[in-house]
Amino acid sequence: MGSDKGILTGKKILLGVTGGIAVYKAVELVRLFKGLGAAVRVVMTENACQFVTPLTFQAISGEKVLTDLFDPASELAIGHIELARWADVLVVAPATANTIAKIAHGIADDYLTTVVVAATCKVLVCPAMNTKMYQNPVTQNNLELLKGYGYCVIGPGKGELACGDKGPGRLEDLEIIAEHVISALTQKSLEGKRVLVTAGPTWEAFDPVRFFTNPSSGKMGYAMAKIAWRRGADVTLVSGPTWLDAPHGVKCKKVKSAEEMCDAVVAEYGDTDIVVMAAAVSDYRPKHFTPSKIKKGEDDVVLEMIRNPDILKKLGSAKVHQILVGFAAETDELIENAREKLVSKNLDMIVANDVSAPQAGFRCDTNIVKILYKSGEIEELPCMSKEDLASEIWDRIENL
Ligand code: PMT
Repeated sequence: MGSDKGILTGKKILLGVTGGIAVYKAVELVRLFKGLGAAVRVVMTENACQFVTPLTFQAISGEKVLTDLFDPASELAIGHIELARWADVLVVAPATANTIAKIAHGIADDYLTTVVVAATCKVLVCPAMNTKMYQNPVTQNNLELLKGYGYCVIGPGKGELACGDKGPGRLEDLEIIAEHVISALTQKSLEGKRVLVTAGPTWEAFDPVRFFTNPSSGKMGYAMAKIAWRRGADVTLVSGPTWLDAPHGVKCKKVKSAEEMCDAVVAEYGDTDIVVMAAAVSDYRPKHFTPSKIKKGEDDVVLEMIRNPDILKKLGSAKVHQILVGFAAETDELIENAREKLVSKNLDMIVANDVSAPQAGFRCDTNIVKILYKSGEIEELPCMSKEDLASEIWDRIENL
């Protein structure tokens, strides 16, 4: 989320808070939304005010909190209608079984449920309640009704609840809720597309505890996968070993070696529309793997290396309808080397980064690239975060 600072600038989020123990987490949610740059207004039910006072939400949101539909002192003339028009997205978190039931049946008997009925924007409902209440068939049925009406139901998470029960019922992780809000406010320009992204390094082992690798952190590829999901794509991420958590909504297949990555990618290729290979795949691997740890001796050791499969070249030669995008990590002759890869691997586009430049390439949070197209055109982009760059690259892929 840190890298998404300001991403919701200019967007308006209406947060509906209902009466459950997770109300205290909703305060943090307001802070998270504000950190993303959004304007936030809060509507609380009477029961929610039993857990946390409106003053707390007012202090964090910087806006008067709305609780009373008939408040004569309200600055809004017809509050529920004006608020419903104001919001770009409405998030009900936590959503109790009672409020879910009311929304599912069109009951509008307080400020929040009245706004929900009047809303035409996307509505995200985040259930939080005791496990038995959540599993009650009536609640389950109501949630299905909500989904059927086009509401987006997020969570709940699983774990230990305030009442001591264990199971589903916790308010979903706040970062996941925020991720859904960002997605709800993102144009679905990749809807219906199946996207395959590779990321990270490969490990080429020569004994059980030692391997050859490179400094790829996976950040560039994970950013590409994350933005594709936000734009509505069905995303599979094939990742070499990294410390990163898989982006929300993305199917992640973990692999170690180039050969494993090759198998995973080839298995997905037929059904894929767009492939983005951001992984730093090792071109060579040790010829022999010793099953036990190689012992230190007096003599030097010579290891013989053999070629790994060139995954992208394989995809390029089997290309039918797919769009293929490669990355080129270079230290010299950036354009010439990248162009050679674009042509020899039958790519539609290649993103060339000079990995010896500061603020570019491996590990850092930023990158500086030149994009080469099949047409011969070259486009130079300034230094930017890997997330912003991923958006720029997707804009260009969508134009292909
Ligand atoms: O992970 P980060 O720390 O964020 O760093 C990002 C990055 C520097 C790894 C990324 O921006 C990048 O440049 N990725 C490509 C690295 C690379 O392997 O470049 P290459 O020039 O060796 O390969 C060209 C293309 O062929 C790449 O798309 C690569 O995935 C692919 N390839 C390479 C070798 C091989 N055996 N099979 C392949 O498919």
